[in-house]
Amino acid sequence: MERERAVKYRRLGRTDLKVSVVGVGTWQFGGDWGKDFAQDEVDAMLARARELGINLIDTSACYGPDHLSEALIGKFLEGQRREDWIIATKFGHVRGWKPDEVRRTIEDSLRALRTDYLDILQFHSGSDEDFDTEGLWEMLQRQVEAGKLRHLGTSIGYNDNLYETAKSMEVGVSVIQVVYNRLDRKPEERVFPSCQEQDLGVLARVPLASGFLSGKYGPDATFPDNDVRSGRDRERIRSTVEQVQKIKEAEVPDGMEMAQWALAWCLTHPAVTCVIPGCKSVQQVESNAGAADLDRVPDDHKQAWE
Ligand SMILES: NC(=O)c1ccc[n+]([C@@H]2O[C@H](COP(=O)([O-])OP(=O)(O)OC[C@H]3O[C@@H](n4cnc5c(N)ncnc54)[C@H](OP(=O)(O)O)[C@@H]3O)[C@@H](O)[C@H]2O)c1
Repeated sequence: MERERAVKYRRLGRTDLKVSVVGVGTWQFGGDWGKDFAQDEVDAMLARARELGINLIDTSACYGPDHLSEALIGKFLEGQRREDWIIATKFGHVRGWKPDEVRRTIEDSLRALRTDYLDILQFHSGSDEDFDTEGLWEMLQRQVEAGKLRHLGTSIGYNDNLYETAKSMEVGVSVIQVVYNRLDRKPEERVFPSCQEQDLGVLARVPLASGFLSGKYGPDATFPDNDVRSGRDRERIRSTVEQVQKIKEAEVPDGMEMAQWALAWCLTHPAVTCVIPGCKSVQQVESNAGAADLDRVPDDHKQAWE
């Protein structure tokens, strides 16, 4: 059996949070990734994450019907020390962006997560117009002052959204979530420099390019109807798999699991604080946690860990 190691931690931008460099993405718990999750499966995955030192869970009010992903996490959290976890959730897709509706979404998320505060509440990939909804950020600031929210974040929809990123400090946002992976480096151009300038925490989402950067899919991969990837056209899948194969041959050291390499690759950019791979099993949680294992990251990929 592989030697057990704990993940590393970093300061999340200008917040007072120390996050594990690998978190757990939980869109999957909502049932959109070809599989429904029972409570005991979620408990086992999150308990294993905890053992490995992972302390960040990313979810959303809209993952699954009736806050399903949040509710599964909430039931798990009941048996936990709340302060051991950093819970990041999102608003916007369930009730929209108007301040009163967002306030109700927050109450529903708190209920589902069985907690009285959220560590990070993120604007969930709305348009720039949604971002500028009158009174939205003022209302959120009041929730921070009331102790219901610790920090505000923005999960930008397209990964070159400089408008929302650049406004972070103005509206009180200290965390940006953005698509970033070896196949999609767009944030390096404008979004990451803005994050670094404002000292924002960066959560890299879709770090495995929806699973393709694990290298396990061939050009004829198909997905069940209840999997978000089922709608992808064949050409897009073929071209993605082709790129992944080239990267595997040229860049992934022999003997290294490609999924771990792909996560470690994201973490080498100095703007990135944490990766939040979506997980479907204990085995994936273990593999992903292993990405923080310094000894397995090639020298030229190392950077200072706290
Ligand atoms: N707008 C937003 O704010 C937004 C949008 C998207 C995602 N997110 C967040 O970001 C998280 C991550 O993004 P994502 O889930 O879309 O994409 P991802 O992390 O790139 O890919 C997740 C998929 O990769 C596969 N996988 C995970 N670990 C693996 C491993 N070690 N080895 C092999 N395969 C592995 C699993 O699917 P299979 O095993 O079925 O291949 C899993 O469902 C989400 O869970 C969610 O929390 C937020």
